[in-house]
Amino acid sequence: MKPRILTGDRPTGPLHIGHLVGSLRSRVRLQHEFDTYVLLADVQALTDHFEHPRRVRDNVMQVALDYLAVGLDPREATFVVQSGVPEIAELTVFYLNLVTVSHLRQNPTVKSEIAQKGFGESVPAGFFVYPVSQAADITAFGAQVVPVGEDQLPMIEQTAEIVRRFNRLYAPVLVEPRALVGEVARLPGLDGKAKMSKSLGNAIFLSDPADEVARKVRGMYTDPNHLRVEDPGRTEGNPVFAYLDAFDPDRARVAELRAHYERGGLGDVKVKRHLLDVLEATLGPIRERRAEFARHPDEVEAVVREGTRRGREVAAVTMRAVREAMSLDYFADAEINAGG
Ligand code: TRP
Repeated sequence: MKPRILTGDRPTGPLHIGHLVGSLRSRVRLQHEFDTYVLLADVQALTDHFEHPRRVRDNVMQVALDYLAVGLDPREATFVVQSGVPEIAELTVFYLNLVTVSHLRQNPTVKSEIAQKGFGESVPAGFFVYPVSQAADITAFGAQVVPVGEDQLPMIEQTAEIVRRFNRLYAPVLVEPRALVGEVARLPGLDGKAKMSKSLGNAIFLSDPADEVARKVRGMYTDPNHLRVEDPGRTEGNPVFAYLDAFDPDRARVAELRAHYERGGLGDVKVKRHLLDVLEATLGPIRERRAEFARHPDEVEAVVREGTRRGREVAAVTMRAVREAMSLDYFADAEINAGG
């Protein structure tokens, strides 16, 4: 049997090129060697979008299209809608006993999200505990490997802690996962901020039309002191060069451009034009495949429906073992205890 992968995304909007280099590419690469499950994490999306359920629902299909467009193959990877697997919610309730509020408060990713969303003291409890629900996502599928962006490392660490605690306390039934961070740990935003994100409005989406990508690249932040072409420019902290590093397969050419820019004599307009060509070489084919799949929404829906059904079967196996380990298997032979 192949080892298993579980990973996923919150369907709060379309996926961007940060997702592509952070985790989508490793998923595509690994889908043949691993039994791969990809979670459309609508329940997690609701933890900060519970007032907009319709938006989450619409984005489930958009993200499924992004998956297909980047080359996740439904014969290799199973697409699962999180809310279609109620076992995850059940596991979450049991795992909540194994973590403390003070430990949850220290999660650096949740901390910065709370600050970014301006929740202050009024953070919804569901949002606060989503790392526990993410542990349920991962363990429900018995995943050994979780391909994610760097910001997700605290979630995998939290999952590993819950697994160790559970296995020690009850019975060794859960699999301890490890994270696999993509080729590029973190892609900066168009504005040079540390992280590309939909909510910061500094992202290039996989679904952006070509003229939109061109407009975004033209408006990118560069070195603010690089005023004249002859001036030496800074490439460090310059997102144009970070993107070239991430997307230009011609390393020697990037090294040359970097040296030229630093020495002076290479203008922003020119580097950006090159960057646009490089990005389009990646995004063009993705855009075409996306448009092709978008013409067949029934097929996309069928892929997601069938994937969710298979995902639920896998989670049900874990659920039975967990119930037994926790002495909750009252009616072992009865349908009532079968975990769905
Ligand atoms: N928290 C992840 C994100 O914001 C999405 C996610 C949900 C996930 N469940 C997961 C990632 C399980 C990996 C494994 O991108």
